[in-house]
Order: sequence, then C-alpha cells, then structure tokens
Amino acid sequence: MQATAQIGVTGLAVMGRNLARNFARNGYTVAVHNRTPARTKALIEDFGHEGTFVAAETAEEFVAALERPRLLMIMVQAGAATDAVIEEFAPLLEPGDMIIDGGNAHFADTRRRERALRERGIHFVGVGVSGGEEGALNGPSIMPGGSPESYAALGPMLEKISAKVDGEPCATHVGTDGAGHFVKMVHNGIEYADMQLIGEAYDLLRQVAGFSPATIAEIFRQWNKGRLDSYLIEITAEVLSHVDAATGRPFVDVVADAAGQKGTGRWTVQTALELGSPVTAIAQATFARAASGQSALRAAYRGLPGGTNWDLTPYEAERFTAQVEQALYASKLIAYDQGWKMILDAAKEFGWKIDLGAVAKIWRGGCIVRAAFLDRIRAAYAADPRLVSLLSDAGFASEIAEAQVPWREVIATAARRGVPVPAFSAALSYYDSLRADRLPAALTQGQRDYFGAHTYRRVDREGSYHTLWGTPG
Ligand code: ATR
Repeated sequence: MQATAQIGVTGLAVMGRNLARNFARNGYTVAVHNRTPARTKALIEDFGHEGTFVAAETAEEFVAALERPRLLMIMVQAGAATDAVIEEFAPLLEPGDMIIDGGNAHFADTRRRERALRERGIHFVGVGVSGGEEGALNGPSIMPGGSPESYAALGPMLEKISAKVDGEPCATHVGTDGAGHFVKMVHNGIEYADMQLIGEAYDLLRQVAGFSPATIAEIFRQWNKGRLDSYLIEITAEVLSHVDAATGRPFVDVVADAAGQKGTGRWTVQTALELGSPVTAIAQATFARAASGQSALRAAYRGLPGGTNWDLTPYEAERFTAQVEQALYASKLIAYDQGWKMILDAAKEFGWKIDLGAVAKIWRGGCIVRAAFLDRIRAAYAADPRLVSLLSDAGFASEIAEAQVPWREVIATAARRGVPVPAFSAALSYYDSLRADRLPAALTQGQRDYFGAHTYRRVDREGSYHTLWGTPG
C-alpha cells in the first residue's frame, strides 16, 4: 500500500469515526482502521465522500498507509484495550513515529505509556478531547500532552480540526507526558461542579421561590445573557423547558433523580486527595451524584424532619432569584479556582510547565464548560501569568466581594428550608477558610501533639515543639 495518509485513526466507534471525519473534512488524507472491519466499511460507505480516506483492513496495511514519521491515533476504550492496541502497533512502527491516544485515559497510564514508548524511540501523545461526538466532528477542545517535538508535527493538525473562538484554535500543547489527559480530567471535574451548582440553583428556585420549570428555564435564559453565559446554562434552559410527550409533565419531573457518572469526576477527586489539593466543590459534586443513587439509604432518610417552609411574595422571589445568581456565580468562581489550583499543584508534582491562561483559552470553545467566563480567566492570566488564585485578580475579587452577602443569605435560606446545597456550601466554606486570619488547625495541631507527640510549630518562634501533656506547667 502506498503511504499517502498524513494521519491514521484506529478505533472507529463514535468518537474515533467523528475525529477521522473531522481530519478528512479539513483536507487531510486519513487512514482508517478498526478491529472489526465492518466499522471501517461503514465509515467509507456513509462518509467516504467527505474527504480522502484510506481504508485498511489489517494493522500492517494501516501502518503502511501512513506517511513518515507516522501519526497513528488510537481511539479505543481506556485501560486494557488501549494497552493492547499500543502493543499491537508499536512493533510495526519506527523511531520518530508517533502514537496519539485520544481516548479518555487516566493521566498516570499516559505517563507510564509515554515513558515506555520513549525508550523505544516512539513519541506517545496523550490527548484530552472534549466536546462529545458533536465536538469531535465539528471542532472539539483539544488538550495534547507529550513532547514539544511531537507537538511541532501534530499541533498544526489538531489546531486545524479544533473549535475556534475569535479565530483562535481551541488546542494548545498543555505540557509534557500526561499533562493533556490530566487537564482533561480536571476539566471534567469542573464540569461536575458546574452542573451540580446549576442543579442547586434550580432546586432553590423551585423549592424556595416556588417557580415552575418553565419559569426557571426563562430565568436561566436571562442569566445566559450575562456573566453566566455558557453552554451548560444554555442547555439547562432547554432541558427545563422540555415537556415529556407521553405525560405532558415537565421532562425534569419524569426523570429518575439518580445521576450517573463515567468516573472522570471520581478520578479528579482521587487525584486531588493524593496531591493534597482541596477541590471541595468538585468533590461535593461527585459525592452528590453518588448520594443520589443510594436509593435504600434515601428511603431510610425520607420523611425525617426538615426545614420550615414559607411562601415568598413576588417581590421576595425576584430578590431571591438575583441572590441565587450571585451565589451561583461566586460558587462557580471558587470551583474553577480550585480546579486551577489543582492543575498548578500537579504541574509542580510532575514537572509540567502549564500555561493556565492558555488552558482557559482552549476551553472557551468546543468543550462542555465553554463559557464567556473563560475569556475573563484568560484575560486575568494575560495580565498576570503568575496569579496564585483567580481571586488575586482585581476584577474577580470585586465580584466576589459584591456576591458574598447574597451568597451567604442563599445558603442560610437553604439551610432553614432544608434544601441541600452541598456544592454552594463547600464553595463558601472554602472561601471563608482561605480568607480567615486564624484557622482551628492550631487546635488540630494541639490534639495531634497530645495523643501522638506529633509536634507543632509556634507563631512566635522558629522550630518544632512538643508539650509534655498532663505534667504541670
Ligand atoms: P462505543 O461504546 O461508542 O462503541 P467504545 O466502546 O468506547 O465505543 O470503543 C470501542 C472501540 O474500541 C471500537 O472501535 C472497538 O473495536 P470493535 O469495533 O472491533 O469492537 C475498539 N476496541 C475495544 N477493545 C479493543 C481491543 N482490545 N483491540 C482493538 N480494538 C478495540
């Protein structure tokens, strides 16, 4: 077979197929391969007219179709399948060739694979791809890791197929080895938090203000014209205004209230625990999904006493709605700040140089968390690339200063009413913890020293101290 393809994609399930089509539509010759050849044939039959594809039946044919250095993208299930496919293709490649994993791999696997393949002279590039099927086809947000050398060859292609915002591609070299998959993982964690916060806002507007889903959809549409402008707010309005055809009831009332997850939120939280990064809003969002599925436990709690209910006047409901917008915005800012800090912690731990402003920039389009807000984050880093926190930016700091009183009122109201707001509360507690002059951590240190002689440091002197507890003086 003549080598004419600039890139090859193996694994032609929905994401792989759509990425292959996206490359072809952008003028690249794309070799396509799948373990089961029927999928390859189907792609050629259904979409062959969209560009130049080279269908390969065997691994050898596939590799032979690629121009050198070869760019071979694998789009199979994360985990053992990815390892199996790497092992199938790596022996057929030559030094300088590249294996690109565009699946949802755990970044630690990507680091391991990158190291192993580097020893064999093969570049391994873990690429986070966000935007689902639609994004893969029409322009995703793309977060590649791997060596800078690999990005020189692959980057222009990824930038070409990515989403564009203000004419700029939503793809950039995030950092070396597993940095791309890491950032994609945190993206998903932030997405969990964003969705949970929106859910809590909805629940408050429904239960406290007494609005119908249709009215709340209208409120979200209004919010979407302001600083909360985002894909998730937009689709929330769509979901809330949707009516179930079979029953005529609001769609949201006929859906079982047990949230699923594929596990990237859990990975974020597990990794955060290892790094010591307090991503409390992301963690609460992940736990909230888990709790929603605990049906026996929920049945055991159901009927236990809750808060006090009272009706709001129309004026109060309107005022409360404005407060919820403030609370949602402030909590979202904290959730993002936590995710950003986690990326910084990981960069330190794994030796990555990550440009956080560039991450904000490539999340402005293509991905699920795309939002006007991300342009603000990009601008904040452009003004000061060394920001420790988003709240070190004067603009964000003044917004949170304005939001904090209504934010507290919303959470207090939720507590009085008995409406659960785990992510709102976690975000506010985080804010209060970090701005506190003194934390009860001093007491924790005293307890640790008491029962375990763990020692403590003092505020007034250098060194490490132990008190002889139980002895006078
Ligand atoms: P979906 O659920 O949308 O079908 P998926 O399960 O995440 O997608 O990915 C399935 C892809 O991984 C398929 O292309 C599959 O190949 P088949 O069509 O032959 O099933 C591929 N895949 C999974 N395990 C594989 C393995 N061990 N070797 C090669 N390809 C594999």
